[in-house]
Amino acid sequence: MTTKISSKQITPSIGSEVDGVDLSDDLDEQIVEELRELFLDRMVLVFRDQLITRDQHKRFAGYFGDLHVHPSKRNGMSETDPEVFIIDTPADAKWSNGETWHSDVSCEDIPPLASLLYVSKVPENGGGDTLFANMYEAYRSLSDDLKAYLEKQTAFHDGEKDLRQYGIRLREGQYYPSASHPVIVCHPETKTPVLFVNESFTSHIEGVAPWESNMILDGLYHHIASNQTMQCRVRWSANTLVMWDNRCVQHQAIRDYVGYARYGERVSVVDEDSVPVGYMTSK
Ligand code: SIN
Repeated sequence: MTTKISSKQITPSIGSEVDGVDLSDDLDEQIVEELRELFLDRMVLVFRDQLITRDQHKRFAGYFGDLHVHPSKRNGMSETDPEVFIIDTPADAKWSNGETWHSDVSCEDIPPLASLLYVSKVPENGGGDTLFANMYEAYRSLSDDLKAYLEKQTAFHDGEKDLRQYGIRLREGQYYPSASHPVIVCHPETKTPVLFVNESFTSHIEGVAPWESNMILDGLYHHIASNQTMQCRVRWSANTLVMWDNRCVQHQAIRDYVGYARYGERVSVVDEDSVPVGYMTSK
C-alpha cells in the first residue's frame, strides 16, 4: 500500500514533522491509520501551515479518542467551549500555561491520552517553543535496581499542586481531581514501560517519608529535564498544530518571550476504558 503522508524526524529520540495532510479535510481511514502508527512510534507530531476552525480541530482530535473536558471547565472556573482549553499568554502575562515539565492533567483517574495544541499566534520577536521528552527513554535509562524499586511504587498526582503554581486556590464548591497512579506505567498500546511522574502534578510517592519521596522525585525530575538525548524542541510558526502522547511524553512551555503575546487552543482526547496500569501488574 502506498503511503499518503511523509514525515521527517525532529530528533532521533522523539518527534516528527508531518507533510501531506490538510487538517481541515475529513480524512480518509488510510491516512488516519498511518497517522496513528506514526504517532505511536514518534510520540509528537507537528503539522505546519494549517488553517483550521475549532470544529475542524475537534474533528481531527476525535480520530484519536473521545474529546476530554478539562477539569477547570467541569467546576465552573471557565465558561468557554468545554472541549477547548485556551492557552492565551498576553504580552503582560505574569506566567504562561505549562512552564513546568508535565503530562496533561495526570491528576485525572484517566488522564487524556493525547493533546492537540493549535497555535495561531507566535511571539513577534521569537521564543515560545515547547520542549518534549520521551518517557520510555526516561525509564530505560535508569539503573536496574532503581527500575525494580520504582516498579513497585505508586505516586499521588494532585491537581491543586499544579494550580498553586499559578497562585490559584479553589473556592468553596469548586473541585479539582487527584489520583494515584503507578510510578512505572505500561503504555496501553505499545505495552512498553514508561516513567509516569511529573513535576507539575505529582506531589509524593505513597507510603514513604516525605524526605525520601522528595529525594526520589527530585532526582527523577532532574533526569527528565536535563537529559537532552531524550528530548526534542518544537519551534512554532503561526497555524501549527502539534499532537503528543501524554502516556509516554512530558512537555514544558518555554516562557522566554515576556512582553510579547502568544495564543493557542488545545483539545485533548481520552479513552474512558484505559485506566493507567502498572508495568508489573500488566505482565
Ligand atoms: C501545555 O499544553 O501545557 C502548554 C504547551 C505550550 O503552550 O506550548
